Amino acid sequence: MTKIKAAITGIDAYVPEYILTNDELSQMVDTNDEWIMTRIGIKERHILKGEGKGTSDMAAPAVERLLKKTNTKPEEIDLLICATVTPDMQFPATANIISEKTGIKNAFSFDINAACSGLIFTLITASKYIESGAYKKVIVVGADKMSSIVDYTDRSVCPIFGDAATAILLEPTLDDNGIIDHTFYTDGVGIKHLHQKAGGSAKPASHETIDAKEHYIYQEGQAVFKFAVSKMADVALEIMEKNNITPENLAWLVPHQANNRIIEATARRMGISKDQVMINIQKYGNTTSATIPLCLWEWEDQLKKGDNVVLAAFGGGFTWGAIYLKWAY
Ligand code: UT7
Repeated sequence: MTKIKAAITGIDAYVPEYILTNDELSQMVDTNDEWIMTRIGIKERHILKGEGKGTSDMAAPAVERLLKKTNTKPEEIDLLICATVTPDMQFPATANIISEKTGIKNAFSFDINAACSGLIFTLITASKYIESGAYKKVIVVGADKMSSIVDYTDRSVCPIFGDAATAILLEPTLDDNGIIDHTFYTDGVGIKHLHQKAGGSAKPASHETIDAKEHYIYQEGQAVFKFAVSKMADVALEIMEKNNITPENLAWLVPHQANNRIIEATARRMGISKDQVMINIQKYGNTTSATIPLCLWEWEDQLKKGDNVVLAAFGGGFTWGAIYLKWAY
């Protein structure tokens, strides 16, 4: 019997209007365009403005656009999973809020938190429901309002992150295309290097935690960089070798957009040229769960049915991994 695979059959996004440039950041902290471009590769990032607005306020329009574009009714969706580290609230899940806002009434929904690997981990989780044969239309949301946990007085962190939401439709396929393989890793060695100190059950919010700025991202940049640069390249190479992908038959590498230097190192290790790599970090920064689909969305017109595509990510946890898929439309 032919095995059911999950295929991406549509993708859309919502990027907030406000653009925070390197020049504006230079007025907020002691930094400059040259440092940010050389060390990270970011020119600007989009920020969600407005009192009371959260991740779901970007994700809901992304899902609505996806439904419209793929001619899908909200009632047809069986499952919605949201990858995020910046949920609207601690609970309920942001996926529940998105489903409510978009009229998705016949689905169950939940969140996955795997930091910058959240999108790839969620995509594989969702694909397993499709492969089971019991689910026909699953939406994967990758959305983060990173500006809600960035300290805009900390120059080592504030240039890096941006806000965005993306939505992917997954459906079953019996042909050769779709999601083929993945390799994922987690190593708790990363906990101390990248985390949010307060606001969880171990250290609930208090006046003291607010005063100590413990609700913001804590990142030891150099330590994270060292792991990211080797692990993302290792795993991308591993998925290539496992699936007989060569630089010649790979159409695209879609890397998590955390730092241009990490992306370039990964491409070098894979032996591929820059033309085979989707890079838009300069426009959006690191939008955590949204980076990989933001690339697929921007490159959608250039993707062809049957293209060999590798997705690769590294993030907090540490978590890292790669997916091999054949583009399905
Ligand atoms: O997606 C989640 C996973 N996260 C990542 O993958 C992030 C990985 N880490 C990185 O991308 C880089 O480590 C950063 C971009 C965070 C930092 O770049 P770096 O090349 O590692 O810089 P550094 O921390 O070693 O700092 C070098 C210098 C320091 O000054 P001194 O001590 O040499 O005088 C910093 O104080 O750069 C200084 N610096 C800045 N200067 C201007 C740090 N931030 C800035 C800034 N503007 N924004």
